[in-house]
This record gives sequence, structure tokens and C-alpha cells, in this order.
Amino acid sequence: MILVTGGAGFIGSNFVLTSLTQADESILNVDKLTYAGNLNNLQSVSHDARHIFVHADICDNERMLALLMEHKPSAIVHFAAESHVDRSILGPAEFVRTNVNGTFSLLEAARSYWSGLAGADKAVFRFLHVSTDEVYGSLGPNDAPFSETTAYAPNSPYSASKAASDHLVRSYFHTYGLPTLTSNCSNNYGPYHFPEKLIPLVIANALAGKDLPIYGDGQQIRDWLYVGDHCAAIRRVLKDGKPGETYNIGGWNEKANLDVVHTLCDILDELKPADAGHSYRQQITYVTDRPGHDRRYAIDAGKIERELGWRPAETFDTGIRKTVQWYLDNQAWVRDVQSGEYMKWLEKNYSQRDSAANTNQQGAI
Ligand code: NAD
Ligand code: TYD
Repeated sequence: MILVTGGAGFIGSNFVLTSLTQADESILNVDKLTYAGNLNNLQSVSHDARHIFVHADICDNERMLALLMEHKPSAIVHFAAESHVDRSILGPAEFVRTNVNGTFSLLEAARSYWSGLAGADKAVFRFLHVSTDEVYGSLGPNDAPFSETTAYAPNSPYSASKAASDHLVRSYFHTYGLPTLTSNCSNNYGPYHFPEKLIPLVIANALAGKDLPIYGDGQQIRDWLYVGDHCAAIRRVLKDGKPGETYNIGGWNEKANLDVVHTLCDILDELKPADAGHSYRQQITYVTDRPGHDRRYAIDAGKIERELGWRPAETFDTGIRKTVQWYLDNQAWVRDVQSGEYMKWLEKNYSQRDSAANTNQQGAI
């Protein structure tokens, strides 16, 4: 059995679902069910005896230790986090609480549990910390992609809190010998992605006839990876990764935000055409840039390919098409997520943001 934290969120739920179907792995899923956690993501496995859901906060160290002692997992895969950069700018405290203190609480519980193990149980145990490429900061246009030896330079409260948690994990390996693994992944996309993030937000807004907000000039670059590929990479790291090591995971797929949004609009124009003569591109609206917005992320995923034999299976073309189709097929999921208090709060905060280039956008098409 694996203990997964944050398994009701975007990547965590994809990991739980694919681990049950593709790897026949039993899962103890520990999630606080914040605004980003959604049990509907796990509906298809709600009667699967191999999946146990526990509603708990990773900051509750005693509870974490009790769960470990009761279920005796062979590994922890730690996804639980506050994950949205814009939200971290509006309110960083929760990011420090969950991402830093929560990871510390979980590490302490893991150390205590692991110290009490013996023989093969102790030898096989792993603590896999799921992190982000954002800890490395921002690249210039001609810089080489981030490698595992790139110096940390986090720029947002989100990335700073993840960087702090990465350092704690590193220290538990070096100081206590806890067999940790850390993966730093680029931007994910795919099913169950919460519509506060660029790709699901643009799909949802396009279909609702709303503006598609582009921060600044839309030329910021992200390295997109299909979530199923990320989950497969995590399973590979868990199985074959060397304790104490970190692994960068990415899609070899750098795209400017505006190009991503154009692609989404074009696929939607094809799969779900709006009124005659209307392209979803006409809904693109330039808005004030995010403070401290990182210009470019790109991952050198060479180490995980060389040492563990992992490469992404999806191209951006295949992954993004599947994703748009998933959102078209799962409008009820989107409506349900959007009906929550958090989306109303988010919308209110962002509607107050002034429109930089206000009018459209024709020039961007
Ligand atoms: P998400 O926001 O969709 O889900 C986070 C989950 O964690 C939710 O289910 C939430 O309820 C749970 N959670 C939050 N605080 C908790 C707490 N205190 N105790 C227990 N559960 C708690 O996030 P995501 O996009 O699925 O990201 C998962 C992990 O992957 C994060 O650690 C994130 O930093 C990392 N990551 C994300 C991306 C990405 O593109 N989304 C890329 C690289 C790394
Ligand atoms: P996001 O999905 O929030 O991920 P991250 O900030 O972790 O990379 O944003 C992806 C990119 O899209 C980022 O450069 C910010 C930009 N963006 C927009 O232009 N408009 C939006 O409405 C959002 C949410 C993001």
C-alpha cells in the first residue's frame, strides 16, 4: 500500500486512478479537501476496496503518524499542497502552512514510522516528494533548460514555499537517512484540472462566452506535460529512483501562453463551434500582468530518461486534444467545481483587475 497525500486534487486524483487501473496498487488517500480537493474526481473508484480515503490535514502530525502505524504503507507520495501562484500572491500564509509546515509534519511522521521498521520493510520504504520546476526561478530566452543542478531561485510565495519543502526533504535524507526522492515537474494539464489554472480556465471561459484573460503580452513560456505522463514518471521514480536524488520531469514542450490559448480556441472552434462567424479567439483579452511573473520555464528531462528510461508518451497535440474533449464531455464536473464559494471569491478578485489592453485582441488573432 502507498500513502498518497492530496489524492483528491488534480494530479493526485489522476495518480490514484491510474495507479489503481495500470499498476494495481492499493492506495491510502489522505486529503484535507480544500477548495481544490474534489471527491467527484474519485467517483469511479468509490467502491474499489483497494482505495481508502481519509479526510485529514497533513499538518496534523499525530494523525499522520497514527495512519502510518495503522496501515503500514511501503511508500508515501506527497502531492498535498496549495498550488496556485495567483492565490499565493493574494494570500501566502496558507502556502507556508501547508507546503512548508505540512511537509515538515509529514516528514516527522515518516521519520518516526520508518525508524521503527526493520529488515525488508525498512529497506524498501520511500518518501517521494512531488515538487515543481518553479523552484528554479525564471529563464532568459537563450538559457539552457533547468537541470537537477540548477540553483534554486524561487520568485513567488508558491515557489518559495515549495523550495522550502524541497530543502526540508533533502535535509531528512542527509541528516536522518530517510529514503527520500524528489521530483520537480513542469506545468501539467489534463482531466480534473481546476479551472483557476490557464488551460482549464480558458476552456471553461470560452464555452461560457467569457473573456480569455492573457496576462501581460502572453509571451511567457511554460513546458507543458500531460498529467498521465507525470503520473507514469512518478511511478518510475518511486520504483527505480535512487534515495536522496532529485529528478526533473518535463514534456520537452515549450509553448508561449498565447500560442496555447490559440490552440485551445482552434480545437474548440472545430469540436464545439460557436455561432457562425465567431471564433473563440475573439474572446481573448489582455489583462494586467501577474506581479513577479516568471518569463520562461523549461525542463531538461535527460536524467530521468537516461537513468530510469522515462519519456513522455503524449505530444502536446495529442494531449491537448484529449483534454479539450474531456472538458466537453464533463461539463457537469466543471459546473459543480465552479459553483463552489472559492470560484466566486476568485472571480470577484479578478474582475477588479484592470484590463490592460482592454479591447480585443483582433491584433492577436
Ligand atoms: P491541487 O491544488 O489540484 O491539489 C492539491 C490537493 O491537496 C487538494 O486535493 C487539496 O485538498 C489537498 N490539500 C491541500 N492542503 C492540504 C493539507 N493541508 N492537508 C491535506 N491535503 C491538502 O494541486 P495539483 O496541481 O494536483 O498539484 C499537486 C502537487 O504537484 C503539488 O505539490 C504541486 O506543487 C505539484 N506540482 C503541480 C504542477 C501543476 O502543473 N499542477 C506541476 C509540478 C508540480
Ligand atoms: P498557471 O496555469 O497559473 O500556472 P503557473 O503560474 O504555475 O505556470 O499559469 C500558466 C501561465 O499562464 C502563466 O504564465 C500565467 C498565465 N496565465 C494567464 O495568462 N492568464 C490566466 O488567466 C492564468 C490563470 C494564467
